[in-house]
Amino acid sequence: MSTAISSQTPSPTSAKKRKILVTCALPYANGSIHLGHLLEHIQTDIWVRFQRMRGHETYFVCADDAHGTPIMLKAQELGISPEEMINAVREEHMADFSDFYISFDNYHSTHSDENKAFATEIYNRLHANGHIKTRIISQLYDPEKGMFLPDRFVKGTCPKCKAEDQNGDNCDDCGATYSPTEVLNPRSVVSGATPILKDSEHYFFDLPAFEEMLKNWTRSGALQEEMANKLAEWFDQGLRQWDISRDAPYFGFEIPNAPGKFFYVWLDAPIGYMGSFKNLCDKNPAIDFDSFWNENSTAELYHFIGKDIIYFHSLFWPAMLEGAGYRKPTSVFAHGFVTVNGAKMSKSKGTFIKGRTYLEHLNPEYLRYYYAAKLTNRIDDLDLNLEDFAQRVNSDLVGKVVNIASRCASFITKRFDGMLSANIDDQALADDVMNAGDSIAAHYESRDFGRGMREIMALADKVNEYIAIKEPWQLIKDESKQAEVHDICSLGINMFRTLMIYLKPVLPVLADSTAAFLNDELVWEGHKTLLTDHKINKFKALLQRVDMDKVNAMTEASKDSLVGAVTTEDKKIKNKKKVKAVDNSAALANPLAADPISEEIQFDDFAKIDLRIVKIINAEHVEKADKLLKLTLALDNNGVETRQVFAGIKSAYQPEDLIGKHTVMVANLAPRKMRFGMSEGMVLAAGPGGQDLWVLNPDDGAKAGMRVK
Ligand code: MSP
Ligand code: ZN
Repeated sequence: MSTAISSQTPSPTSAKKRKILVTCALPYANGSIHLGHLLEHIQTDIWVRFQRMRGHETYFVCADDAHGTPIMLKAQELGISPEEMINAVREEHMADFSDFYISFDNYHSTHSDENKAFATEIYNRLHANGHIKTRIISQLYDPEKGMFLPDRFVKGTCPKCKAEDQNGDNCDDCGATYSPTEVLNPRSVVSGATPILKDSEHYFFDLPAFEEMLKNWTRSGALQEEMANKLAEWFDQGLRQWDISRDAPYFGFEIPNAPGKFFYVWLDAPIGYMGSFKNLCDKNPAIDFDSFWNENSTAELYHFIGKDIIYFHSLFWPAMLEGAGYRKPTSVFAHGFVTVNGAKMSKSKGTFIKGRTYLEHLNPEYLRYYYAAKLTNRIDDLDLNLEDFAQRVNSDLVGKVVNIASRCASFITKRFDGMLSANIDDQALADDVMNAGDSIAAHYESRDFGRGMREIMALADKVNEYIAIKEPWQLIKDESKQAEVHDICSLGINMFRTLMIYLKPVLPVLADSTAAFLNDELVWEGHKTLLTDHKINKFKALLQRVDMDKVNAMTEASKDSLVGAVTTEDKKIKNKKKVKAVDNSAALANPLAADPISEEIQFDDFAKIDLRIVKIINAEHVEKADKLLKLTLALDNNGVETRQVFAGIKSAYQPEDLIGKHTVMVANLAPRKMRFGMSEGMVLAAGPGGQDLWVLNPDDGAKAGMRVK
């Protein structure tokens, strides 16, 4: 039986049922989900679960962002079609999200019929309304590969400080930014060829035409203050026409009436929000697409995004919607970036943690709680400090919340046949906890989750204090105090229930096991009632403490210490498709790369690999090869037995720096014919890649054997 005890007025939102559509940014379909992505998905999921609990008609959709040059090239590198690759990645992403309890109503792809239809329609409407312009532009072109090169596919010498091997648009050494056409000695990252300048007609979206509308939208108060400030800066700098076309070959949708021209990935990516929602509506005819998207829609539309993609969501996207006769977002909510232990996520430190690696070691609800406890509605970065993570989860969830239940449950089960008392031992305490509902709801609503969690934990402290003062474990020894113990522990269990109602958006699975324990659904409105004369079930441990050893094992497993041009995740995708490695980079994949998921081998298998310390007696550049150096390796001291090996370590070494160094090689690898010649083995180096790759120094090799650098 549930009895309404509190005199609280009904929450204002229960009166009006809202229609809400929520999205997360669409992850690119060429990489795994990591703990940075998960901040966004967890933040959004908590908000969505809260809205659903409050009875609002809420839909949560997402998709993989499947188009663009990097995805096209990655598929080529793997020797599979882009469709095969994006399908495999989408499955991986969906499994990851589902295991973190992200409750999407739909997870689609931007490479879909629905998205193509909307992209085409929106473009046609923009075109008909005079918002599309064309212009010839001159761009770097890879004559060997036959494609235009996006900025990051050009490398060369910095025009300002002359540092070599810099990106096409900025210099890591001196920080200068420039156009890829200014780079000295430019080369294509794709083929190594020297790019040429080539003209091509491009299609532009006339963003400046929407300036007034965008300014009004910004001023309407719908945006976070920091975002509105950012936009003001952009307005001051002046809006510019946006290049929305790319030339073939490109993996994307062809532009209507423009053969060989494709929509730039960022044109159809946000339209993917509509595509995914349409796909949901088609599967579920009770949901009416138009009432969410037409110009006069009264439904609410929210996009949760990271701070790096504000421009796309607060300028291009509303302008495109307006120009094509659709409604604009109610708001765009941006969050900051996840850092781990105070620094950018790093592969070498083991802090670039994939969702799957986390799941192999830790309970997803720990992370959901930790993020919730640290999230604000501002755009600040969020530090995942792993020590603090373990400590916070243990002290709050295990030590405060679940502790209430474990202190009270056994008395109820053993002494009172699982029945909760009909009396309320301390009405003031009960009212304090029950009446916090509106304030906690307001924190959820405004995405100030950290404040919400602090309020909940302060209540848990109060309840624990109450139990500590009452000491039911002492009273139970006194025959005359049995009824008192019953009342105290019943109130404790009830307070645990109310706190778990408040925590349910964050901890859906813990809430489910609590519901089973309490024989109660834990609906939001239940926070106003207490369970009296109510049967509960036997208490089972609800949550384990975070084990720091497991946290450390997770960072160990995330360390990417050996070189491999093709990563573990690539191998998984490729194995799924049973496709043979066909190109040079795949041939460089390191069979010994740390791979927690790969098949186990026996010692005999390992013993077959002939690992030798060898001396690099010559090293030279390979023409047109972007990553490779040609090495001559001496297998003995006299240089009688030598091998020629192509090694992908050009990013870290000038050839002359390598000569005389020792390294480890696989000496019995079957020779392989590569585009540049025969490769007769493989060189092993250590490090996260890029410039951080180490082979052995002569003295290190002598002193420490396998120790590297
Ligand atoms: N595909 C685009 C989004 C298109 S939306 C129409 C994209 N993809 S992404 O995979 O790079 O990023 C997806 C989301 O994850 C973005 O909102 C991005 O800000 C967020 N994050 C990626 N790394 C992150 C952190 N380290 N921390 C927090 N969020 C991060 O951008
Ligand atoms: Zn420079």
